[in-house]
Amino acid sequence: MDTKTHWEKIYGTKEPETVSWYRPHLETSLTLIERAARDKLASIIDVGGGESTLVDDLLVRGYQNITVLDISQTAVDVTRKRLGLAAEQVHWLVTDVTVAELERGAYDVWHDRAVFHFLTAIEQRVAYVRNVAHAVRPGGHVIISTFGPEGPDKCSGLDVVRYDAESLHEQFGARFHLVESSRELHLTPFGTTQQFLYCYCKVE
Ligand SMILES: C[S@@+](CC[C@H](N)C(=O)[O-])C[C@H]1O[C@@H](n2cnc3c(N)ncnc32)[C@H](O)[C@@H]1O
Repeated sequence: MDTKTHWEKIYGTKEPETVSWYRPHLETSLTLIERAARDKLASIIDVGGGESTLVDDLLVRGYQNITVLDISQTAVDVTRKRLGLAAEQVHWLVTDVTVAELERGAYDVWHDRAVFHFLTAIEQRVAYVRNVAHAVRPGGHVIISTFGPEGPDKCSGLDVVRYDAESLHEQFGARFHLVESSRELHLTPFGTTQQFLYCYCKVE
């Protein structure tokens, strides 16, 4: 099954609160984004936003230039519906981030929770990093969260690559300066825990 079909099937058959990565609010992501984007006009892209409430919370905080990108039309439709009229303030991109044609330097902040770790082929990771380097303006910020070294080796039934701060940063290269990293124990809706890693980098 290809990537898009997989995700359309997941979102077509599961309620938002029942997927393992669900949390009512992405608190760590929000804290880091607020640090990176002091200006409410900052251009923020949430890559693989899915049905998460991050976009809702960013709108509540007054951010006015938000893009949500996801490979799944179903997930985007659910999120748009939840937001109602507020969805019109958001830019929506339904595409695969590894092939997306993004505008050069368009974003001040790139956020990804639990997408990069699905890229098990080197070519996919290279294409992803090339897109980050292209689409984030010089001096911009990149916040990536993956499963940590003690996290699961699968997510949504798919193989993932687990990272520590060093190995994740290595994927991005010298133009990305690691500002800080942290680990988080995510409590799934089933009562189990999963270790996530967060890395926050500044682009040269
Ligand atoms: C585990 S979910 C995480 C969703 C959300 N970021 C969160 O933390 O709740 C992974 C998301 O990435 C999307 N995704 C997976 N591969 C992708 C790709 N190559 N390009 C864009 N989105 C992708 C999926 O549709 C899904 O919404």
